[in-house]
Amino acid sequence: MTDTPQEISWILRNHTVKDIGLSTELFSMKQAMTARRFHKQIPGYRMSPLQGLPNLATMFGVGGIWVKDESSRLQLNSFKVLGGSFALYRYLQKQLGLLGEDTPFAYLASDEVKEKVGNLVFASATDGNHGRGIAWAAKKLGFKCVIYVHAETSSRRIDAIKSNGAKVVIVDGNYDDAVRQVAIDAKINGWTIISDTSWDNYTEIPTWIMQGYLTMLTEAQEQFGGVGLVKPTHVFIQAGVGALAASVIGFYHALFGQDAPKCIVVEPDQAPCLFASALADDGKPHSVTGALDTIMAGLACGDPSPIAWDILKNTADAFMKVPDYVAAKGMRVYATPLNGDPFIISGESGAVTLGAFASIMQYPELVELKKALGLDETSQVLFVNSEGNTDPVHFRQIIWEGANPVPKQYWINR
Ligand SMILES: Cc1ncc(COP(=O)(O)O)c(C=O)c1O
Repeated sequence: MTDTPQEISWILRNHTVKDIGLSTELFSMKQAMTARRFHKQIPGYRMSPLQGLPNLATMFGVGGIWVKDESSRLQLNSFKVLGGSFALYRYLQKQLGLLGEDTPFAYLASDEVKEKVGNLVFASATDGNHGRGIAWAAKKLGFKCVIYVHAETSSRRIDAIKSNGAKVVIVDGNYDDAVRQVAIDAKINGWTIISDTSWDNYTEIPTWIMQGYLTMLTEAQEQFGGVGLVKPTHVFIQAGVGALAASVIGFYHALFGQDAPKCIVVEPDQAPCLFASALADDGKPHSVTGALDTIMAGLACGDPSPIAWDILKNTADAFMKVPDYVAAKGMRVYATPLNGDPFIISGESGAVTLGAFASIMQYPELVELKKALGLDETSQVLFVNSEGNTDPVHFRQIIWEGANPVPKQYWINR
């Protein structure tokens, strides 16, 4: 592990040959296209944009910066709905004995299906975006939904879930406490849990969720083709429990094997469970505890998802943990584009990877990491803007009022 004056730490993983067996099994192009065909049927589905920021790329000294912009996916402000909706689809297909086929969305929403599967209630814990996606998908399919949030969840996030018809239960403690509580209550009430994190004997639904995220990557690959690129050379991906990171990194390894892009996982320094797992270096997932006090609400997770870790431990090239000001800076960089670059709305969890990359390219103290990752003028770097303005009050506090400033000693005046 290396610490810098910026309190940014990183761990490099020196795989000689990567074990990509699990990635190939779970995240093949075939799996990805199954998810894509499902999402295409959802009314209102469109590809999210892949935005190029050529002037920022020149400023930072790389060949290209590409942002898969999920800020308005299905008008829900985040990529999360891709996973939740696909898991509900798969779950219903399984109940109906239809796995292995494509099932029309309209059929799953029909009374005939309700007669066959009964009045299911879907439940999940969330730090905001996943719950909103599940509530939205359950409502579209005509099922009830209960979402557990932790006590620090902002009222804006809770309202967004309620506006999609779900009942919201507030739990004392942090996100991990909400996960544990919903598991207990679901058993008592006979609810079906649609969790993005896995645990012992609960992996099928979290796997479907990760596979649902693959739609985004098939789109990105198509969009890269459109600008004459076969693949990015680097991918920076943010992580809470690690499901998003595992699906992105797993997909690129399933597709390109040992020639996959260099993949860097970024977490908040207050909730670095994957970083802690990499640091322990014993192959097992490790939790971090405490308040998980970070502005990156979507990444405030102390327990890694074991199946996600099984992918990441064998494929990620580096793990970084960064303070909140790095995410806030990323939000401001997106919101104030260089002349000619597009404007991108990015929330705290969405922007942290750009902030981390900017730090690597701008701080002399991180030059060793820049070299180790091979970031130079030939690099084509992919970011996933995983959320837009999901908490408008906090968004304005950061962008308008300058909350979470970069400490003065780290300003770039060189
Ligand atoms: C906006 C956003 N980005 C990234 C993530 C991280 O996803 P995961 O928990 O799968 O690592 C989340 C999770 O909720 C999120 O809401």
